[in-house]
Amino acid sequence: MEIAPGAFHLQRRLAMDAQRALVERCRELVDGPVPAYVPTVRGGGKMHVRMLCLGRHWNGRTYKYEAVRADFDGLPAPPLPAEFRALAVEVAGSVGMPFEPDLCILNYYGADGRMGLHQDKDETDGSIAAGLPVVSVSLGDTARFLFGGTRRRDPIQPLTLESGDAFVFGGPARLRYHGVSRIVPGTAPPELAMGGRFNLTFRQYDLEA
Ligand code: SIN
Ligand code: MN
Repeated sequence: MEIAPGAFHLQRRLAMDAQRALVERCRELVDGPVPAYVPTVRGGGKMHVRMLCLGRHWNGRTYKYEAVRADFDGLPAPPLPAEFRALAVEVAGSVGMPFEPDLCILNYYGADGRMGLHQDKDETDGSIAAGLPVVSVSLGDTARFLFGGTRRRDPIQPLTLESGDAFVFGGPARLRYHGVSRIVPGTAPPELAMGGRFNLTFRQYDLEA
């Protein structure tokens, strides 16, 4: 379960009822009044996910956090739902990591969704230096997740993230490279009646919450 110092893969962490409730909420959010969208990133390419930031917006053109979606429609990021936050605090606590998340990036991966290898390093220096974790929760189709080291050229460990799994990387693992090479279509639990994959990554922008 601790796959590297500070990195934990918690398989089937969420019971089916909890998964179902979360998926319902994710669906409402991504197609709600402030909808998920496909960001264009710094180099001009489009991402291969639909993204919706909650609590604080991550701007794909500047790689900075902001209150409104200046790279898309200027709308304010919707608040982070209290039940989402509580789940992330509980998951981090279960591996001994204090955490007061103030934002969540909700991504939807369709059948051809993916995400290139990257570091999560746009939170404040204080938050990253303290090793405050990123807490990830997966729902729906299985993902092939890549977990590398702190340098891009470091060896990569392929992992399988299934529906209901949580993955936590904090402490010495906080700046490890990671990505999603592909989704395995048709693998979502039938109880969820969904295709594709939702992934939620919780972060704490500031050291002082
Ligand atoms: C991310 O790194 O932002 C997403 C990871 C995932 O989808 O599992
Ligand atoms: Mn990431």
